[in-house]
Amino acid sequence: MRKKFVAGNWKMYCGDPAKAVELAKGVVASVGSQAAVEAAVCPPATALAAVVTACAGSQVGVGGQNLYPKDEGAFTGELSAPFLKALGCRYVILGHSERRTYFKEDDAFINLKVKAALTADLVPIFCCGETEQEREQGITEKVVEAQVRGGLAGLDVEQLGKVVVAYEPVWAIGTGKNATPEDAQAVHAFIRGLLGSLASASVAESIRIQYGGSVKPDNAATLLSQKDIDGALVGGASLKADSFAAIIQAAGG
Ligand code: 13P
Repeated sequence: MRKKFVAGNWKMYCGDPAKAVELAKGVVASVGSQAAVEAAVCPPATALAAVVTACAGSQVGVGGQNLYPKDEGAFTGELSAPFLKALGCRYVILGHSERRTYFKEDDAFINLKVKAALTADLVPIFCCGETEQEREQGITEKVVEAQVRGGLAGLDVEQLGKVVVAYEPVWAIGTGKNATPEDAQAVHAFIRGLLGSLASASVAESIRIQYGGSVKPDNAATLLSQKDIDGALVGGASLKADSFAAIIQAAGG
């Protein structure tokens, strides 16, 4: 039985540590003691340390939004997986479509990041998803398959078992448009089948696959009731403690 996992991707919002702590404390107050649903917040790097402190002793974990796949070195402006780990992070979001689009991250680079995260004992939240044009062309599965095969290449079965996958159709991110629960479920089932061929059927059964893209308190329950939807990666609605808590409650928390 997979435990549902809801994570908030704060993106480039709430980077002021004081504001971030206020939001994190609101999340902790609402859901920080429940253990039925795994919950995490992923603030900007500037607020990570303060948010780790605010969430300490609660059930709310903290994640980074990116990393650079070297432990240290002359890479001005970058953060490594060991740095995130030392700060107290448990997770890191990798391969988000915003990074693929705006920062031209390709599958091979994302693959290095996934491996760096696993080496540092961070849980990668590995994102994949098609654009609207790709969906209209009927190539959603082909695109998602290439992203999953490329991004998770070279991982052994044990490492694959530690990954969380987030299916985020690009056209549903920040747009208020949702995939229908049935359409989302179909892609999730496809991804699970693919993970089965990369790892094993039993490992694939244990991997959480989150849905992301305009998840709100009013649509979360239907999406999360689908067989292969194991949680949510939430953008906008994670920036208010009450709406994020409502999504966690919809997931069973
Ligand atoms: P929204 O929930 O704002 O659509 O963002 C989804 C997302 O990109 C999470 O990573």
